[in-house]
Amino acid sequence: MTTLNDQARAILRQNDRGGYTVPTAGLYPYQWNWDSAFAAWGFSTFDLPRAWVEMETLLATQWDDGMVPHIIFHQDDPGYFPGPDVWATEKTPATSGISQPPVAAIITRLMWEQSPQEGHDHMAALYPKLVKWHRWWHDMRCTHGPVAITHPWESGRDNCPDWDVGMAGVDGSDAGPYTRRDTGHVDPSMRPGKEDYDRYIAMVKFGVKVGWDQAKIVEDGPFLMADPGITFILLRAHADLAFMGRALGEDVSEIEEWAMSLRNALPLIWNPELEAYDAKDLRTGRFAGVLGSGAFLAYLAGASNPQLDAQLIRVWDAVRYGIPSADPQAAIFDPRRYWRGPTWPVVNALMAIGLRDSGLLDLESRLRVETAALIEKHGFFEYFDPMDATPCGGDSFTWTAAIWLTWANQDRDQLVGAT
Ligand code: DGY
Repeated sequence: MTTLNDQARAILRQNDRGGYTVPTAGLYPYQWNWDSAFAAWGFSTFDLPRAWVEMETLLATQWDDGMVPHIIFHQDDPGYFPGPDVWATEKTPATSGISQPPVAAIITRLMWEQSPQEGHDHMAALYPKLVKWHRWWHDMRCTHGPVAITHPWESGRDNCPDWDVGMAGVDGSDAGPYTRRDTGHVDPSMRPGKEDYDRYIAMVKFGVKVGWDQAKIVEDGPFLMADPGITFILLRAHADLAFMGRALGEDVSEIEEWAMSLRNALPLIWNPELEAYDAKDLRTGRFAGVLGSGAFLAYLAGASNPQLDAQLIRVWDAVRYGIPSADPQAAIFDPRRYWRGPTWPVVNALMAIGLRDSGLLDLESRLRVETAALIEKHGFFEYFDPMDATPCGGDSFTWTAAIWLTWANQDRDQLVGAT
């Protein structure tokens, strides 16, 4: 009988395109930045050398300025839009022109710690590239304090309600004619709407117009919002990077300074009315005013507080499975539409690291049991309806398989209360 472990490993092998792994065939046929880091974590449970190759392939696509792009178009695939011709970044291999949540240092540390001797040279070779990427985040995206994103896709949480206030200021009428491909692969009601897409494309066009000059995009681009999600991920990643640097005997004071200035900026994304961390439109100073899963990544950076704890329990108790990507008690909640409500196993896995490190072990177990229940019921889908477990988005999904192997299926025989 094939076990879920076997199936998860088979998905990683199946989505392996030789040195890099696609998130899922069809819907996402290229290498995506944070998906690839999670793929490496998954591979590390049964093929550590292959895991290092994944991370090395990803970091090999770093731009000269330090950015590691969000999509790497290794081979043309007409089944995806917007492809390399639309991004027009003129890189080899072709890439998109924005970045994605910097989980690579967090996962590199986890991989290295599995086998410090075997991993030493790999980690040492990746270290300067990761430092260069983190410097890029500091110089190019932390100019206003917290991490700013220049396109919702940079956050990895594409259409979450956090971005609505910023998206309202983007003129999508400029997008021109185009044919979406995503809605041919999965149910359109589970994907972002047409108005969102017009704006996404208009933002890409702005990047092309200014030759992907990142400073210009931050200064004049159509969209600039502070993202609590990446802010917390980067804080955690800085700490893990500094840890590895110390082990290598490097001077890590520069990384410590980036981390300190980022931590000092946290009050700027605390919305007292919402009683939570909140996204903020940096063009207008307006908070998003909605509670999303980015706020709960605070645990990953040791930045939680009792008010946030109370909010976490409130939104979590309002659903049955996992932490929802948007507040179920808010009007915008849409339990099957991408980042506007569904629970995402991969984000649950990140939050679990934070809950565990914050000493909230019962909450970590609860999250593991609920996430595992979704996968046991329906398999390795991209995301799920948190109310009734309906599987959503792409199937045979790399990062869902990866977090099953690394986290969701760990030590569950000692836990009770599976949903
Ligand atoms: C997509 O195409 O939906 C991706 O999330 C963009 O990164």
